[in-house]
Amino acid sequence: MNQTVNQTLNPRHDWWKQSVVYQIYPRSFQDTNGDGIGDLPGITSRLDHLQQLGVDVVWLSPIYASPQDDNGYDISDYRNVAPEFGTMADFDAMLAGMHARGIKLMMDLVVNHSSDEHEWFRQARSSRDNPYHDHYIWRDPKPDGSPPTNWEAAFNGSVWEWNEPTGEYYLHMFSRKQPDLNWENPALRAEVYDVMRFWLDKGVDGFRMDVINMISKPWNADGSLPDAPVVREGFLQPSFPMTCNGPRLLEFLREMREQVLDHYDTITVGEAPLATITQGRELTNPETGALNMLFQFEHMDLDSVGGTVGGKWAFKPLDLRDLKATMTRWQEALAGQGWNSLYLSNHDQPRPVSRFGDDGRYRVESAKMLAIFLHGMQGTPYVYQGEELGMTNVAFPSIEDYQDIESLNMYRVATEERGQDPAEVMASIYAKGRDNARTPMHWNAGANAGFTSGTPWLKLNPNFAQINAAQAAEDPDSVLHHYRRLIAMRRVHPVLVHGRYALLLPDHAQIYAYTRTLGTGDSAERWLIVCNFSGDGPVFDLPADVAASTCDWMLGNYPPCEGDALHGSPLRPWEARMLRLHA
Ligand code: NOJ
Repeated sequence: MNQTVNQTLNPRHDWWKQSVVYQIYPRSFQDTNGDGIGDLPGITSRLDHLQQLGVDVVWLSPIYASPQDDNGYDISDYRNVAPEFGTMADFDAMLAGMHARGIKLMMDLVVNHSSDEHEWFRQARSSRDNPYHDHYIWRDPKPDGSPPTNWEAAFNGSVWEWNEPTGEYYLHMFSRKQPDLNWENPALRAEVYDVMRFWLDKGVDGFRMDVINMISKPWNADGSLPDAPVVREGFLQPSFPMTCNGPRLLEFLREMREQVLDHYDTITVGEAPLATITQGRELTNPETGALNMLFQFEHMDLDSVGGTVGGKWAFKPLDLRDLKATMTRWQEALAGQGWNSLYLSNHDQPRPVSRFGDDGRYRVESAKMLAIFLHGMQGTPYVYQGEELGMTNVAFPSIEDYQDIESLNMYRVATEERGQDPAEVMASIYAKGRDNARTPMHWNAGANAGFTSGTPWLKLNPNFAQINAAQAAEDPDSVLHHYRRLIAMRRVHPVLVHGRYALLLPDHAQIYAYTRTLGTGDSAERWLIVCNFSGDGPVFDLPADVAASTCDWMLGNYPPCEGDALHGSPLRPWEARMLRLHA
């Protein structure tokens, strides 16, 4: 590839550091035409909710033309809108509505793979001589006739699918309807850059890049791909370790930056499973990297028995000390060298209040605590739709009630091929399944929570009568008002954006406490964030090496405590405090 990429690219404006991003999963946000599927006019109709929340940027999950095998993460036309979401005119109206409110729009860019119904793939699979053949990744069987590698796809089965017309396999890291694009081919890369320019020229403000660290595959010298190490005898092997952070990743992304991103004023975040802090630093370095920030996954894997590589389904309770170690490593590693994204929630993850808090008695308190915990850190915070209401996980009685391809495939393989107990498999889906986050948004206590006048594509969480935006807007103590206050604070206190992070009490099993410090010496501003990750009443004592005698109570999820908030202070269940310290 082109070796002319400059060593130092243009550093960007960094407005995105001060921003708070709100993620919309369009299928589940607001339906306006009664088909049970959220749509673009629905988003436009709800922009006041976002403006009142105070967010700066929307990340919109895919709205492009798609057969919806993976709810739009399988794109059949990168330049058109799926009819169930609306028209291009609806898109333009939505974008104008956002911009009129000072809200920017970040599109989902899904270019590790396309849909098998994309015109490129239809052509590519027709013949080895077709000009589009090299847009995808093809391999002959092994000499014994078996698939080219032993890799398991993210949604189960082999990553390889046989293509009769050309007599070879194609690679798909996700479903067989999501063939991987071949980034080694400069013509493919040029097509992707054109797609990006198309949307940027329409006025969008950036991209969230789907599994972007998978685009460079680890080719052997002879063009073959290596088998994965065997960690599960008799089965296919985990493939993500083989394809994440491949050898040409930074090179490809720097080329994208040089050819596209540096010509616009954008916000970019790359989804990066298995990313390490070294890769995070490298990819988000403002001079020599390529993206503003990454979605790393280490903190999302702490409640899985197998950790990062073992898969997410075997769950275990979170040990708070693990969370401290992980978050702190990322906070420290990227300080001054790159930038963190801050998230606990998105369309692939269970609801944080159910996962890390208490979604029963202390739902409101723990949802508010988690918000303070996250937004107090250095990085750009992301709020996923419904998180600002404290929406919870769901447990539908039957697998028939679920829609997510990942959960459905896993259930089938686990029960039919591996003989697992269906009740245990359902318990995993309740804890970790993606439909937890995808149930329709709760707008009010009316029919279907105000989401649709038709039949919703996925059932609602039955608790919408208690948890919904209309009720929350009326209640000044709601999770929603808490998010509004927290987001507003970040705008006026630069210490929350730029302050240095330091962990306190690393070994405490219930209290997560840290400071943020802006400036040095006597004029430094220092804030303390104290979060009780339990329903108990642990006592907080500020460590002696943090010089502070008094404090201002900036925000909490209970009224200010009586007495000394810093020393010998019992915390209330799931309490969080944001305090400004004075020496
Ligand atoms: C990550 C997306 O967030 C997820 O929803 C999707 O299934 C995969 N990438 C494949 O595109």
